[in-house]
Amino acid sequence: MTTQNLPGTSAARHGTGDADLTTRHAGEPIGERIIVTGRVLDSGGRPVPAALIETWQANAAGRYRLDVDTHPAPLDPNFDGAGRCVTDAEGRFRFVTIKPGAYPWGNHHNAWRPAHIHFSVCGRAFTQRLVTAMFFPGDPLFGQDPVFNSVPAAARERLIGRLDLGITEPDWALGYAWDIVLRGPQASVFEPDEERR
Ligand SMILES: [Fe+2]
Repeated sequence: MTTQNLPGTSAARHGTGDADLTTRHAGEPIGERIIVTGRVLDSGGRPVPAALIETWQANAAGRYRLDVDTHPAPLDPNFDGAGRCVTDAEGRFRFVTIKPGAYPWGNHHNAWRPAHIHFSVCGRAFTQRLVTAMFFPGDPLFGQDPVFNSVPAAARERLIGRLDLGITEPDWALGYAWDIVLRGPQASVFEPDEERR
């Protein structure tokens, strides 16, 4: 679990546009448009409002817009891969983005990371910044990913978003549901800093 102290957050500083990663550039990004939504909950299942959620991810080709990413896959001029929003009174967040691609990461021979979106959560009600990731259901790369498999088997399901046709917008975007639970027996799996790839 990451224990980086951060200052308090302000909902007023973060517009809703930061939660839509598909409309910030001149054109639309390439890839499968998706909606990812869920709630931040405490150990008692109570919603955590006004928590700052930040996301970062690869584009549809599996490339991050980062200098350190040397994967020879194309960058997308219409996608930067960074999202941000603040949870509402019900603890809810909602992002519109592109489904990320798998990417190689050199941890072992022919290693590929399954598609995932990194999330960090911080808020006034707790003083830590927590980092986790959401994976996609049924990914055939789960079996060979050391990060995914470093999590106890019983907790792996908590890392996987659920395809939810109720969130899907017909003819426009698929939808995934995924909650972040801060503490307790159903807590999400949080990562140390060095595993944030
Ligand atoms: Fe990653």
